Amino acid sequence: MKYLAIALPLSALALTASVSAQDEDPQVAHGRQVFEHMCAPCHGQGPGDDGSEMLPGTAALTEKYAGSRPGALELRNDLPAPVLSLFVRRGVGAMSPFRASELSDEDIAAIAAYLAEPD
Ligand code: HEC
Repeated sequence: MKYLAIALPLSALALTASVSAQDEDPQVAHGRQVFEHMCAPCHGQGPGDDGSEMLPGTAALTEKYAGSRPGALELRNDLPAPVLSLFVRRGVGAMSPFRASELSDEDIAAIAAYLAEPD
C-alpha cells in the first residue's frame, strides 16, 4: 500500500512529462537535440567531466560578460538565428567555425528557436 501511494504520483508525473514533450514544436525539439549533441559539451550548465567548475564555453562567456549576461547559452534570449549564425559560421575565440556540412542553416535556426524558449 505504501509503495502504491508513491508509485501513483510518479507515473502521473511521467505521463505529464511525455505529453508535454510531444507538444513541443518540432523545430524546437530538433534544436534541443542538435544543441545537446553539438553545443552542450562546451556550453552546457553544470561542471565539466574533468572536475572543472564549468564547461569551457560557459566558463569563457561567464568571464566575458562578468554578470551582465548568463554564461550558459540556454539562459540567453538574445541570440536569434542571424546572430547565432555569425558566431557559429565564423567561429569565435577558442570555438572553431562550423561548416554547413556539419551544421545546416536549418540546424542553426532550430537551435535559435530552442534558445528563444522561456528558460
Ligand atoms: C569545443 C567547445 C565548443 C563547442 C563544441 C561550441 N562552442 Fe560556442 N563557444 C566556445 C567558447 C570557448 C566560446 C567563447 C569564445 C570567446 O569569446 O573567447 C564560445 C562562444 C560562442 C558564442 C558567442 C556568444 C557571445 O555572446 O559571445 C556563441 C553564440 C556560441 N559559442 C554558440 C555555439 C553553438 C550554437 C554551438 C553548437 C553548434 C557551439 N557554440 C559549440 C566553445 C564551444
